Amino acid sequence: MEVFHRTQLAAELATHILDDDLAPASSGLFLGARRRTGKSTFLREDLCPELRQRDAIVIYADLWQERDQDPGDVITEAIREEMARHDGVVLRFARAAGMERVQVGGLAFTMDRVGLGKQVSLARALAALSDECGRMIVLIIDEAQHAITTARGSNVLYALKAARDKLNMGPHHGLRIVATGSNRNKLAMLVEWKDQAFFCAPMQEFPVLGADYLAWVRDRAPASAALTVDGLMAIFDRAGHRPEWMQAGLSALAARGDWTADEAHATFAEAVESRARARIHNLLALVGLLSPLQSAVLRVLAAQGRNFVPFWTRTMDTYRMVIEVDDGNEATEPINLHTVQAALDALKEKGFLWRSVHGVYALEEFGIREALEEGGLLTNSTWRVTVMGQKAA
Ligand SMILES: Nc1ncnc2c1ncn2[C@@H]1O[C@H](COP(=O)(O)OP(=O)(O)OP(=O)(O)O)[C@@H](O)[C@H]1O
Ligand SMILES: [Mg+2]
Repeated sequence: MEVFHRTQLAAELATHILDDDLAPASSGLFLGARRRTGKSTFLREDLCPELRQRDAIVIYADLWQERDQDPGDVITEAIREEMARHDGVVLRFARAAGMERVQVGGLAFTMDRVGLGKQVSLARALAALSDECGRMIVLIIDEAQHAITTARGSNVLYALKAARDKLNMGPHHGLRIVATGSNRNKLAMLVEWKDQAFFCAPMQEFPVLGADYLAWVRDRAPASAALTVDGLMAIFDRAGHRPEWMQAGLSALAARGDWTADEAHATFAEAVESRARARIHNLLALVGLLSPLQSAVLRVLAAQGRNFVPFWTRTMDTYRMVIEVDDGNEATEPINLHTVQAALDALKEKGFLWRSVHGVYALEEFGIREALEEGGLLTNSTWRVTVMGQKAA
């Protein structure tokens, strides 16, 4: 599929990531943006090639794509794969393991010896790679929030912090860790909790596609459609800055050849609008299948965001008010620690919620909150004052 390249953004970020004088760069960089807005495409198509062109060794791990694997293993595997490409590194470890006589490329040193609790730690492995190649290593972890959903993933992040500290000092050539995520609340846990591996790493909003992309879209429409970038801008906002939805608009225009500009914009907008409606409709249909307590827990969490404390007595009262007052239902099951925990488990199982290894809950993606809001399900009671003493934001 054709991709609009963001070369300038890639160049700016590459400079920021690689520059030795920019202190924040060495503590890692976190980029947050909504789902389906083009993060992975940008990383793969633009940022990785730009970093490689500047002579960095780039290791890319997408924790979302390999969802059936432990995120810790996905990161470790990506590092092993890169190491295996460098014969010199393999040889070093083979020698260190007393395998001098065994040929490289045979079974001298297999990469499964690298990893957590293995013969060769991740820090040592990355240091050897850095020394052998004499180049900076950039490790890109796409959807990094998944790393803290398992103990192994969390531990790999700690190991990487140790590796980063080691490689950014002394004779080595540096390790930068770039992480992306689709939910700022979750990414924030990675950088704000002092026991987390990336405490204090700077967090940036990954810029959504802009006017130059819309000009590229316009140039792909039939000439008679006479779309304008300004006209497309409002539609792209409504599309939540998802390129796929713009593709739906383009497809709608392809059917005919004789557009006036107004008609073309209206048809484009309608195609996007119908995607938006379908998305909300589908999500609300799924919410409609939840039990009253599950629905209340989901909506209170969505409204209260980072202030949500699931088992606080006052939050329990809030669930009850949502069910009885806002929805006008009778609470058919007791509301207590046990039933709320079961509701949270069910919501996670159904893909609405995410849970960190520390037991913190967040929406799986922010779009769920938007759908609930548009569907009128963030009712009065869901917004009640939270344990932090603030009205939920
Ligand atoms: N620069 C671009 N030009 C054209 N299409 C794009 C561009 N970026 C993304 N897309 C399209 O948008 C869709 C989503 O892109 P991508 O997977 O990169 O987003 P994402 O933010 O990583 O999504 P997810 O949240 O699912 O990980 C893909 O179908 C992709 O082809
Ligand atoms: Mg992605």
